[in-house]
Order: sequence, then structure tokens, then C-alpha cells
Amino acid sequence: MVSKSIKQRCHALREQIEQHNYRYYVLDDPVVPDAEYDRLMLELIELENKYPELVTPESPTQRVGSKPLSEFTEVQHVIPMLSLSNAFANDEMVAFDKRVREKLSAETVEYAAETKLDGLAISLLYEQGKLVRGATRGDGTTGEDVTLNVKTIKSIPLRLRNKYPPRLEVRGEVYMSKQGFIALNKSQEKANGKIFANPRNAAAGSLRQLDPAITADRPLLFFAYGSGLMEGLDLPERHTDILDHLKDWGLPVSGDTRVVTGLDECFAYYHYIGKRRTKLDYDIDGVVFKVNLLRQQEQLGYVSRAPRWAIAYKFAPEEVMTRVIDIEVQVGRTGALTPVARLEPVPVGGVTVTNATLHNEDEIRRKDIRTGDTVIVHRAGDVIPEVVRVIMEKRPRHTHPFHMPVKCPVCHSAVEKIEGEAIHRCSAGLFCSAQQIQSIIHFASRRAMDIEGLGDKLVEQLVTSGLVNNVADVYNLSVEQLANLERMGVKSSENLIQALEESKRTSLHRFLYALGIREVGEATARELANYFGSLTAIQQASIADFEAVPDIGPVVARHIHTFFSERHNKQVIRQLIAAGITWKDIEKTGKLPLAGKTFVLTGTLTSFTRDEAREQLQALGAKVAGSVSKNTDYLVCGEDPGSKLDKAQQLDVKVLEEKDFLALIKDSQ
Ligand code: IVH
Repeated sequence: MVSKSIKQRCHALREQIEQHNYRYYVLDDPVVPDAEYDRLMLELIELENKYPELVTPESPTQRVGSKPLSEFTEVQHVIPMLSLSNAFANDEMVAFDKRVREKLSAETVEYAAETKLDGLAISLLYEQGKLVRGATRGDGTTGEDVTLNVKTIKSIPLRLRNKYPPRLEVRGEVYMSKQGFIALNKSQEKANGKIFANPRNAAAGSLRQLDPAITADRPLLFFAYGSGLMEGLDLPERHTDILDHLKDWGLPVSGDTRVVTGLDECFAYYHYIGKRRTKLDYDIDGVVFKVNLLRQQEQLGYVSRAPRWAIAYKFAPEEVMTRVIDIEVQVGRTGALTPVARLEPVPVGGVTVTNATLHNEDEIRRKDIRTGDTVIVHRAGDVIPEVVRVIMEKRPRHTHPFHMPVKCPVCHSAVEKIEGEAIHRCSAGLFCSAQQIQSIIHFASRRAMDIEGLGDKLVEQLVTSGLVNNVADVYNLSVEQLANLERMGVKSSENLIQALEESKRTSLHRFLYALGIREVGEATARELANYFGSLTAIQQASIADFEAVPDIGPVVARHIHTFFSERHNKQVIRQLIAAGITWKDIEKTGKLPLAGKTFVLTGTLTSFTRDEAREQLQALGAKVAGSVSKNTDYLVCGEDPGSKLDKAQQLDVKVLEEKDFLALIKDSQ
């Protein structure tokens, strides 16, 4: 006989472990260190080993450790698991809302708006609060029993909390985070295992494992989005009430759910989530609108396999298939040759894509991309589209591997490649018109000399017509010369001359950045300006002097030194100064007040734009980083802060509200 006190201890341990699981996996708000959790778990395992009669199926020790199955058994869904009708454009949403309103004879309809998670649907059956069965959707009527696998997912409670109904079926999505997916594929690669194409396939492949020990090792997550069977509880009024109940019973529910009324609010939600999408660490492929009042849902009913009361408004896909028409080579500002795939136009993620960067020759070799190939193209957020992979089965006959040209496609000078570097370069420097054009575009850009009206097309015209060869020549242009160009009138020419005039008053760091020295971005330009204080000092500096600047290494030091030693560059700089470009030299009063401090910005500030805030901080010598790390000194936090705030709090980084930030800047000035 097991003593009462041991039974009680077992019980207490389970309660504590469950509570910690809930805090960690459902609320994402752990209260104890991992070591403490491990200690409790170990104690429970030891007790259960000693007294096997105390083991219950819901014990937290039973999440892992079952033997592999030989096959899955079938499960009949008492209430079928339906799918959703889709909308791909606004007019389909308009039609949906109209149908709903007509059928309900309602002016406007209240919807529950949810994210559409991209994983696989799962049904969880709880009896007397205990998880007794997990099943896949299958064909909607018959699924597979994956109870043992589902139990290994830590955010799925084995026991419900609070006042739950005696019989409850929870429905939701099992998915994998993007991070978890990347990590999984990395370890699969090492182990020579299967590489998954996307997080959804990885989630499905991981859940449908006959050996639950494999599932246990996979980073699976779960969100509940509804209920199936529910016995012993009066149905509430709204779908969102059900979600509130589920949360209360200890199930993870997405925090992005909103109640919206009418189409305008539906569209606003769609756009809001569309923007948030790239920030989420899991894939969503749209949003779901569900008529919120259950009474109205019942009135609307079902068509074949989908409810009439819900619709999935899908996002434009981020990955599509298209064909490579040609591989062209572009010449950049520093002569770097970049191969670009010309694609058959295809809509991806809301825009039409006609080309994708191929980075460099090594990358093309690795992916074996050829003209004529059918490829998968990916575009996420605002980044340049990329070719993910070739569909080899669709490769036509007689294709050829790609080779970099031996001559520059623009000026026909020799192409060079430094051993060990991936990049090929045109050797002609600023004698190559492609490099001339790109360097002038960079010179005029907003964060460099900020010459309004001197855009890409005009620069191209100016260089090809021979009016301009280098960045200094732009300051010799006249209204007459400009007005003679195609698509330029007198008024826009006058405006450009005015903008050129205005650009002459600048700052040393902008000027340095505008010169387009290899590897000298805005941050390095600023470092140089702050460190040396004047252009003369920079022109006289040695390689060793440059290396003495914090954050400048030997390679960049050499690039900077070479740039200022070249005759052509010296000449251009003289011309620019002669044209009247001026700035105030930085007084070298020693260290700047915020030197050595690293700031990160989040949320919306009311008195500055983010760019302005960054410039202010940098002018005071601070560094501004994109993400919070243990090296961050301050997080400046505006309204609606992002996840950076959580990170800062985790890492104990000092958080400044806007007013503290303003005070700090004032003090430093
Ligand atoms: S409701 C009858 N809500 O989408 C209602 N489904 O295309 C059916 N899904 O099989 C499901 N997120 O796997 C619902 N917030 C959400 C969802 C969601 C993802 C999946 C689910 C379903 C499929 C239907």
C-alpha cells in the first residue's frame, strides 16, 4: 500500500508542474527558473517509478515515453470538421457580407475576426476535464487518432482548469513557429533527415509520427479557435464567449482576435493583420471572419462542407511558381556584378514580380538556376524577391549552367574576382557608365546629399547624353541643358537647380557617405566624421589611423585609404568643394556626450519620426541598433511598442518613455 502522504505529494507535484506548464506554454509568462521545473519533474518521475500504481494518463510525465504505434486508428467525428469558404479579393468579401445580411435581414453584422493559422486542424476531446483523445481532421468525417502525439505538445493541457463542462471537444490548429521550423531543418540536415518545405509541412509531418518520441522532439504549438461537442454547458451568446471560456479552461487562444462590425471594420482588420504578419513568428495565410452570434450562425447554417456563417479572406501568397526568361547581369555602384533573374510576371504577396536577385555566381550554382527553369519565388514584406528553388521535374531539355561574363556587360572592361570572395567586379571603376550612374544615384539619395528631383531615370539620361560623368558634374548643370532633355520642362529644371543649390549645405558625415566609398555606410561615415572632425584630417590619415577608429577593421581602413589616395577621387572632391559644398567641421571637444551608448527605438514617438530620433541620437555620438540585445543601454519606447519592449524587460534594459528621452537629449546637448 502506498502511504497517503506519498499520494498527496504526487498530487501536489502534478499540480505544481501543470501550473508551471500553463504559465510557460500558454501564458508565455514563466514564474520559476527551468532548473526548479526540472527538479519537480524529476521528483515526480522518481515517485512514479517507485510506485507505478500512482501513474495516471494525465500525469505530466505521460506526455512522452509511449511506445511507437504500428498504425493510427480511425476516429469518427461526431460533429464533422468542416472547412472554410475562401475570399481572395474585396468584392468576394462584399458578396459574403451581403449574403449574410440578407439571410439574417440585418443592417450590419457583428463578426469575430481571427487570424488564419497555417498548420493542421486538430480535435481534442476532454472528459471530466481530462484529455482523452486527439484526432486529425482527416476527410472531415473520419480522422486519425493521434492522442499520444498530441499529448507531447506542451501548450495542450492534459487537464482543464476552473469550471469546465463534463464533455468538451476543443478544435484548433497545431502549427510550428518559423524559428522552430528553421531549427528543425538545421538539425534534420545534420542528421541527414527529411528537409521540410515550410512550417506547415513540418507540423503535419511531425504530428503524424507513429513514434510519439519523435513528435515530442519537434517544436509544435497549438491555438484553439472553437469547440465541437459540448455537453453540460449552456451555449453562450457569442463565438467570442466560447473563446473566452476556452482561455479560462487553460487553452491557448490567439490574442489577435477582435470583434468587428460591418465590412469596413473587416477590411481594416485584414490590413492590420496583413501588416502584422511578418512580425509574427508563425505563418498565417489569411484572416477568418465568423458571424459572432451563435443564434445567427444557426440561422445561416451550412453549404456542403463549409459553414455559411464564416469565410477565410486569404492573403496573396508569398511564394509562387514562375519561369526564368533570362539571367541578366547588373553592374552596381562599386562595380559588383549581380545576376538577376528576369521572370514571367507573377503576382506575389500583393505585387507583380518581374525579376528576382540571384546574389552571385556561387548562389546560382548552389541552386542550379538556369534560363528556362520553372522556379519557386518568395517575397516577404518589402524585401527583394528571391528564387527559392528550381522545380527540376519541369526543366526543359538543352539548358546550360550559368556563367558570369568575363567582360563587363556595360563597358566591356575585364571582370575580376578576388580569390575567396563571392563577388565579381567590373575593373573599370568610374570609367564604367553603369558605375557612374549608380554612384550618382547614391550621391543624390535622400540620406546622402538629398537632391530632390534627381532620380534614377534622370541620372541615366544625364550620363548617357554625356552631360555628366561624375558626381561633381551635376553642380555644373544649367537650366537650359536640363530643359533640353526629354521629359524635362523649364519648371522642373529650375526646381532641380534650386534643389542642387540647397543640397550644398550639408554635414561632413552625409558628404562622406555620399562619396560612396566601398563598405562605408551611414554609420561608418558618422564614425569617421566624429573621429576626425574634418575632411582634411581624413585625407591626411594613414591606414593605421583609420584602423584606430572604433568599429573600423583593416579591410575597411584599406578601402577608405585607397579611395582618398586615388587621383580621380581627389579631383572630384576638389571639384565638389569648388562648387560650394560646405559643412561645419565638428569641433573636437573630446568625446561626444552619448558616445559608447547603444539605443533601440520602438513604437511611435509624437515629437519625432523614428529617422529624426535616430539622427539626434547619432549626432550626440550614440549608436542606434535595430534590435534589443544585452549590449543595449536604452530602449526608447513610443506608443504601441512592439516585442522589443518585452525583450528589453526580459534583459533588464532601461526603458525610456518619450518624455525621459526628450529630457536625456536636452541634457546631452
Ligand atoms: S474555423 C467551420 N478558425 O482553416 C469552421 N479555422 O480552411 C472551421 N484554420 O480546417 C474552422 N485558423 O485548419 C477556423 N481561426 C481559425 C482558423 C482555422 C486556421 C484552418 C483549420 C480549418 C481550415 C479551413
